[in-house]
Amino acid sequence: MGYQNIIVDKDTITTITINRPSKLNALNKQTIEELHKALKKAEKNDTVKVIIITGSGEKAFVAGADISEFANFSVKEGGKLAAKGQELLFDFIEHLSKPVIAAVNGFALGGGLELAMACHFRIASDNAKMGLPEVSLGVIPGYGGTQRLPQLVGKGRAMEMIMTAGMIDANTAKEYGLVNHVVSLDQLLETTNSIADKIIRNSSVAIAQAINAVNANYEDGVDGYDVEIESFGHCFGTEDFKEGTTAFLEKRKANFPGK
Ligand code: COA
Repeated sequence: MGYQNIIVDKDTITTITINRPSKLNALNKQTIEELHKALKKAEKNDTVKVIIITGSGEKAFVAGADISEFANFSVKEGGKLAAKGQELLFDFIEHLSKPVIAAVNGFALGGGLELAMACHFRIASDNAKMGLPEVSLGVIPGYGGTQRLPQLVGKGRAMEMIMTAGMIDANTAKEYGLVNHVVSLDQLLETTNSIADKIIRNSSVAIAQAINAVNANYEDGVDGYDVEIESFGHCFGTEDFKEGTTAFLEKRKANFPGK
């Protein structure tokens, strides 16, 4: 089945473009489901090593969850919306075993910023604007924003951003540690791809273990050091480890089998 709201450019570095420009790429139910499906496929496909998520057009990455879809929801429906979205998309991305990079090409508001924050890291274009405006609608961030924003920018800044419902520009986001790099819009995908190029030279098996170990730092009741020890040990049983260490000792570039 083809996708209606996303474009998937499948390759070693796969780019997924959210494509509802007339609605500033707002995340409706169908878009969330399509993203889930595409990410699941990319994770299973051995040739895919890195995934980039971006928005179509020059104005928005994603301007939030689609407000028109939930404006009449009940308490129960509201809770379900957040739970389902977190499960299908936001937590799913955070725990994906392959690197997911957000290329933030414009407004990243509400669910859009939450989507960018669920990715493993973020690159922004200099026209990008980021914020969690939910309290201006009488609601709070429901796709992990109250948890991931303080992790990335610190509690005080997160509280201010959430309470004021304001937007910050790309350079402020960089100063806050919310994005790693700021480049011009026409350089955004090139820069993101060049970072992805560096990633794909390394062991994908080790990267999957690293994602798991870093995430463990943010999980309740989990000792990240224990997870690191286990993941570190796991690497010693992989073909990538044999290749990486052998290549170093033989003074040649490693050619990782990804196993
Ligand atoms: N949900 C649904 N539709 C959205 C949307 C969202 N989150 N964000 C934008 N759109 C739609 C608008 O309704 C409009 O559709 P229309 O042309 O059919 O009326 C279209 O996208 C263009 O948006 P518009 O508001 O006309 O663009 P703008 O340049 O004047 O303003 C924003 C841009 C981003 C400031 C403004 O769209 C906005 O505030 N969006 C909502 C952001 C938000 O609160 N997100 C959190 C949701 S929980």
